[in-house]
Amino acid sequence: MSTSTADRVIIFDTTLRDGEQSPGAALNVNEKIEIAYALEEMGVDIIEAGFPISSPGDFRAVQRIAQEIRGCIICGLTRAHRQDIDAAAEALRDAAHPRIHTGLGVSDVHIRYKLRTTREEALQRGVEAVRYAKKFVADVQYYAEDAGRADPEYLYRVLEAVIAAGATVVNIPDTTGYTTPDEFGALIRGIMENVPNIHRATVSVHCHNDLGMATANTLAAVRYGARQVEVTVNGIGERAGNCSLEEVVMALKTRRDLFGLETGINTRRIYPVSRLVSQLTGIPVQPNKAIVGANAFAHSSGIHQDGVLKERTTYEIINPRDVGVPDSEIILSARSGRHGLRHRLAELGYTLDEEQFEKVYQRFLEVADRKKTVDTRDLEAIVEDEVRMFFEETYHLEHVQVSCGDHSIPTATVRIRGPEGQVFCDADHGAGPVDAVYRAINRVIGEPNELIEFSIQAVTEGIDAVGRVTIRIQADEPVKENGVERRVFSGRGSDTDIVVASAKAYMFALNRLIAARREAGG
Ligand code: KIV
Ligand code: ZN
Repeated sequence: MSTSTADRVIIFDTTLRDGEQSPGAALNVNEKIEIAYALEEMGVDIIEAGFPISSPGDFRAVQRIAQEIRGCIICGLTRAHRQDIDAAAEALRDAAHPRIHTGLGVSDVHIRYKLRTTREEALQRGVEAVRYAKKFVADVQYYAEDAGRADPEYLYRVLEAVIAAGATVVNIPDTTGYTTPDEFGALIRGIMENVPNIHRATVSVHCHNDLGMATANTLAAVRYGARQVEVTVNGIGERAGNCSLEEVVMALKTRRDLFGLETGINTRRIYPVSRLVSQLTGIPVQPNKAIVGANAFAHSSGIHQDGVLKERTTYEIINPRDVGVPDSEIILSARSGRHGLRHRLAELGYTLDEEQFEKVYQRFLEVADRKKTVDTRDLEAIVEDEVRMFFEETYHLEHVQVSCGDHSIPTATVRIRGPEGQVFCDADHGAGPVDAVYRAINRVIGEPNELIEFSIQAVTEGIDAVGRVTIRIQADEPVKENGVERRVFSGRGSDTDIVVASAKAYMFALNRLIAARREAGG
């Protein structure tokens, strides 16, 4: 596995570690595996699969990804502590290409207040962590946390020492997203010029987006010699997020004239992977998001539309097909039949088994019946609902009925099939139709929780559009020894009727909560 060509930028994907630290993104192990396969297929070089010591779930996820994904380096994060490194080494034991990512703070604010130590002691701890990690794996990456706000002279000394101790990659994070492109580029240039053994390691950069400059900073670093970039799909991550994979990859590709560098990414997989990550994390992509937003290739002004019709490149610097955006003009109807649907799903890159296909087909017929035509975005919503559920569904919503209006009390009736096939029917009223439905579901399932987020998006244009509802609920989960922990579960559902979509989203989140509890032995 080669990751060291001078004209190539190595893609280190941290969607499953830093990305998963986004509030409410919590993924279960099966969802992480699904994303890891998609990342491998897209061509990322390194998958940072998690922080093994942080929880048994994270440990299991890193372990399974290490066992199953053979075409990428699999990396586990640690603090500069022996027990963290032991946990990472154990989780990565079966990896074809394991990497341990260890490190600690280098800025004075981190050294003084977080680590409560001195520069010299921190440097020593970092060196010891690298030496210890080297006992388990040859490939050790060192992160100099908060390098963006550190004294460069001290940073140079730390990097020299950890490379001498055996670090193969040194990661320069702008942990707080504080720097500007000029400053960050200069920092990397300074490292290249002042760390005597820097040629023995790959320089990596890890930029956060607090001031909206993560991509610009990453590209500035690449201009000055960084050859590994740490990114997440859709730019998800702590606070304002991380540098986004799709932006850096497409900037390098589109401006090859300027950078003269390549990546190993199959850019046609960018859009499908973006959708997958958004669905599984429950974090919607903002419509104007570069490369993968719904409006990224939409031209609304007449002048622009006219220009694009005459010659696409007048207003488009990227061909949407190059990033895998499906052609939404291809539409199907109920008359397309199984064959037509199967063909279109294959064109869109979905591989479904017979049972999954049948479920999708039945939903497709329902939507086609209500909407008459079904386009690509409708199909994506159907597949999301019917196929991408990586946990056991304990309760199944069979029927929902609502009565509401400006002079009536919103009332909902639900019929739900339980784990042993028993059928429950109940009704309740609420402040509005969705509230009434959620109360009726609560009467059957009775899992205490708090709804903390509810959003609705139209999948396509028009009054008959399919609506996609994304919600988050919060619940107290029992944790061994320490009592309870507040956890967030996202849910999603789509339908031409937004009340039904809301009911499906709530059932999805509740089933996920129940599955997580079962997995934890609660
Ligand atoms: O932002 C950061 O500094 C990090 C490190 C742990 C690599 O995520
Ligand atoms: Zn980070």
